[in-house]
Amino acid sequence: MSTVVLIGGQWGDEGKGKVTDFLAEQAAMVVRYQGGNNAGHTVVANGQEFKLHLIPSGILYAGKPCLIGNGVVLDPEVFIQELEGLESRGIKTDHLRISPRAQVIMPYHQKLDACEEKRRGASKIGTTGRGIGPAYMDKAARVGIRMADLIDPEEFGPKLKNILANKNELLQKFYNEEGFDYGDIYKKYTEYGKRLAGYVEDVSIIIDEGIKKGQHILFEGAQGTLLDLDHGTYPYVTSSHPVAAGACLGAGLGPTRISKVVAVAKAYITRVGEGPFPTELKDELGDYLRQRGHEYGTTTGRPRRCGWFDGVVARYATRINGLDYLAITKLDVLTGLDKLLVCTGYSYRGKLLTEFPSTLKILDECQPIYEEMPGWQEDITTVQNYGELPENARAYLDRISEVSGVPIAIIGVGPGREQTLVLKNPLE
Ligand code: GDP
Ligand code: IMO
Ligand code: MG
Repeated sequence: MSTVVLIGGQWGDEGKGKVTDFLAEQAAMVVRYQGGNNAGHTVVANGQEFKLHLIPSGILYAGKPCLIGNGVVLDPEVFIQELEGLESRGIKTDHLRISPRAQVIMPYHQKLDACEEKRRGASKIGTTGRGIGPAYMDKAARVGIRMADLIDPEEFGPKLKNILANKNELLQKFYNEEGFDYGDIYKKYTEYGKRLAGYVEDVSIIIDEGIKKGQHILFEGAQGTLLDLDHGTYPYVTSSHPVAAGACLGAGLGPTRISKVVAVAKAYITRVGEGPFPTELKDELGDYLRQRGHEYGTTTGRPRRCGWFDGVVARYATRINGLDYLAITKLDVLTGLDKLLVCTGYSYRGKLLTEFPSTLKILDECQPIYEEMPGWQEDITTVQNYGELPENARAYLDRISEVSGVPIAIIGVGPGREQTLVLKNPLE
């Protein structure tokens, strides 16, 4: 039995969807535990591309149970669209289950997300605009609507009436915006509730039964360690807990039940949205990586900021998540560069920092310290095992593993499911 938590080790978009899909074949179930449709996970299987936002990246295997935990914020409209999109491509979705405790993203959350970003002006976070922050705010304020409420009109009606009066007052009096009509939302969302009722089941129990049977269970993180509400580059973060510990809270299992933690990280690094990024390349090389790596957001289409592999970030991810392994993706994107830089530390006011700073004030003044390594020119997209990689590619991987303080288990040499090299199977 192996319960593996797979998380993002950087600022998101590391290739979690691809690696989850690859490992899901051996897992009895795949579980999302935080975030919402701010996530965009791309899976390329049998030459077809799928962009998943809420549905776990195990869905492409027929009959594979895919679970959405209590820690997720679920937009029913987006979820139904995603369901229908998959079904229209012949993918069965009847093995999906949603926790009754998952929070529902309502139309006022999206509107408040946009209002807050506008109000922040130049210091905006660059959110995905999906209502994620406001939905988690309501959860913490104990006024959120949960899936169990959405599917029960007797609960939903009074709760919506109460919260909507509050939100309309906020929208109208504070933001000078129009409010929402109770009747319209009630009608639309009770229909969504009816459509989704059959999917709602206590996923914590399903996971527990799987563990008792000795099954392999895969937890698919969204976002990344540096976007974590506590451990990320606050306030330029998301409002959930993408770190490994988030799986316990967001799916309903205890820490003693987790066997292994794997972080997915690109062979370089990207970030979308605002916030600090020490190894960012603001020059033609950054543009080159963006073009070559197709670094445009899966959810918003925004260009991703690109930079060199940051070993300080990686070491931080190792500590915060208790990593067992790294899965390094997009190694193929670096092919053709003469030299590669790896950040091994930061220079701060003339001092060497080897640990990620806890405040932006310090981080803003940090300059990366780089080590230079030779690149490789050979095409690696059809390589089948580690030994076939060019010597310089292996040396690069060895060095980033050393700097990160954790062994590499998986290497991505292209977006396809088959373009994956396994050094160690984390689900064994
Ligand atoms: P996620 O949010 O972590 O699942 O990552 P995204 O799907 O947002 O972005 C990763 C992108 O890189 C997707 O377009 C993937 O198809 C692609 N990808 C993943 N692994 C590899 C790889 O090893 N090589 C290449 N070239 N592309 C990859
Ligand atoms: P996946 O799962 C990359 C970023 C946004 C913004 C910040 C807050 O595909 O890796 P939010 O809408 O969550 O309030 O935005 O977080 N962000 C992501 N960046 N990948 C993601 O998801 C992200 N989800 C949110 O760009 O900077
Ligand atoms: Mg993504």
